[in-house]
Amino acid sequence: MSNYRYPRPDASEITPETVWQSRRDWMKSAGLAAAGTAMAGLSGLPAMSFAAAAKTSAGALAPLPGIPSKEYVLMEPVTPFKDASSYNNFYEFGMDKADPERNAHTLRTSPWSVRIEGEVVAPKTFDLDALRKLAPLEERVYRMRCVEGWSMVIPWVGYSLSALLKQVQPTGNAKYVEFISDVQEKNMPGLYSRSIDWPYVEGLRLDEAMHPLTLLTMGMYGRVLPNQNGAPVRLVVPWKYGFKSAKSIVAIRFVEKQPSSSWMKSIPSEYGFYSNVNPEVSHPRWSQATERRIGEDGLFAPKRKTLMFNGYGNEVASLYQGMDLRKNF
Ligand code: MTE
Repeated sequence: MSNYRYPRPDASEITPETVWQSRRDWMKSAGLAAAGTAMAGLSGLPAMSFAAAAKTSAGALAPLPGIPSKEYVLMEPVTPFKDASSYNNFYEFGMDKADPERNAHTLRTSPWSVRIEGEVVAPKTFDLDALRKLAPLEERVYRMRCVEGWSMVIPWVGYSLSALLKQVQPTGNAKYVEFISDVQEKNMPGLYSRSIDWPYVEGLRLDEAMHPLTLLTMGMYGRVLPNQNGAPVRLVVPWKYGFKSAKSIVAIRFVEKQPSSSWMKSIPSEYGFYSNVNPEVSHPRWSQATERRIGEDGLFAPKRKTLMFNGYGNEVASLYQGMDLRKNF
């Protein structure tokens, strides 16, 4: 398994029964020996380049493998773990890209639970263990695009958020879903900045939240999430700018009216509710037509063209049929 895209946790490191079982089932269905080469082949790259790309210090994190998704595979190199875990936005831990890696060790991730509340018949709270067992964990390689003009390709571990949302019965009034990040006053040095009205809040329309691409994420690179990437549970919405993907979530709330996200409240002229990746709609202060791929391109390398819906148009364009995406940015 060592040449399988990036250094993976050894099977013997993995103790939780459910995790081990899902890995074994996957091996049975995929054929253990074939798996590495098959996935490398899909990527269009020799397997070695992934291993070499992953100069990783992930070893300190507990293994959390997912069954490699057959649907969500990209023909692009995976961003090295080192870059994905050291160039972050997590304003609770500071404004600088290096701050989250430096400061997020103070985040308390256990015990952890997520409340599902609001317009639901039966509100429920899930602890982390229950969340991990709720549906088979998948590994999905997603292209991520930050509103600031950079992008990464990250192998996330999780399952479609819809699996969780189906556990509660939304009432007929539920039209939107709000995601609320944790606030830990003693542990988050960035809270002193008043640039954001804490807690960090994001929102999706109900059909966006139920879309299979929307991932409830508990791991990356075959391991649990590093704190700086939003441990222990976050959202990943790959066709929207990265800020929609709220980190360290403690509550998911069904609501009737379109919620106001933290960024909409902070700078309403620059950040709309939809925030779909759209090369044709510039940010008021810069173009969104191109992007710089972190870890791959040097600062002076030519930029990549940004794709409509970050390349997920086939899956999600129909959600926005008839909407003026220049107005609904
Ligand atoms: N979630 C919380 N709670 N706080 C944040 O500051 N930043 C967002 C998003 N989720 C943020 C957050 C932004 S701006 C981006 S680009 C992504 O997280 C970055 O995710 P990454 O660091 O895992 O790449």
